[in-house]
Amino acid sequence: MALEQLFVVHDPATIAAVIVEPVTGSGGVYPPPVGYLQRLRELCTQHGILLIFDEVITGFSRVGAPFAAQAFGVTPDLMSCAKGMTNGAVPMGGVVVGNRVYEAFMQGSANVIELFHGYTYSAHPLACAAGLATLDVHEELGLAARVQAIAPVWEAALHALRDAPHVVDVRNVGLLGAVDLAPRPGAAGARAQAVHTACFEAGVLVRNSGDTLVLSPPLVISEAQIGEMAHSIRTALQHIA
Ligand SMILES: Cc1ncc(COP(=O)(O)O)c(C=O)c1O
Repeated sequence: MALEQLFVVHDPATIAAVIVEPVTGSGGVYPPPVGYLQRLRELCTQHGILLIFDEVITGFSRVGAPFAAQAFGVTPDLMSCAKGMTNGAVPMGGVVVGNRVYEAFMQGSANVIELFHGYTYSAHPLACAAGLATLDVHEELGLAARVQAIAPVWEAALHALRDAPHVVDVRNVGLLGAVDLAPRPGAAGARAQAVHTACFEAGVLVRNSGDTLVLSPPLVISEAQIGEMAHSIRTALQHIA
């Protein structure tokens, strides 16, 4: 209802596109409420608005399917992707479009470039080679299925931190996770920064964003490594103020 109101308030006729991360990533790993993406799709379709998924974090098996669009069963009109596309080894980004958008670009005369849009490094051979090699590895190792299989271990390890000092919330989806800490009075972000430093010294790289630990491990992480990560976070939380 609130979502529908937003469309009404802004007049759907003035909205060209809606862009969302299917799972909010750097903002703190917030999985979408049940049915939210489906409803967004319905409203966009109803009003002729393009739906864009930013799959820069969620794409390439991070949430247990090749793309979050598949994991949540919602098909956007466009998807942006990067990061996992080359396993982060070489800079590369891309936009995947559905037939409707593709066909719109194919209406011009035959002798004109369909989408006159390029960068110095568009389709760079090195980046394309890294991208193709990444796809091969995804296929060979069955990474999407692997993420699905290990996700329950990841979930259990993270949620076991619920009783550790300072922890106020834990979220997870696929191989993404977040642990919210209570901030130190008057020093927002300092506590999670201290956890980052303690874990780093123990050989585990944990990223903090404000007072949230934002976790996005390699897709090949083992059960033992998940245990090691959870142990070092717990140890850090027990030793910092
Ligand atoms: C969800 C999301 N979208 C887009 C970007 C930007 O992507 P890029 O740095 O590849 O342009 C980032 C972070 O870098 C991101 O986390």
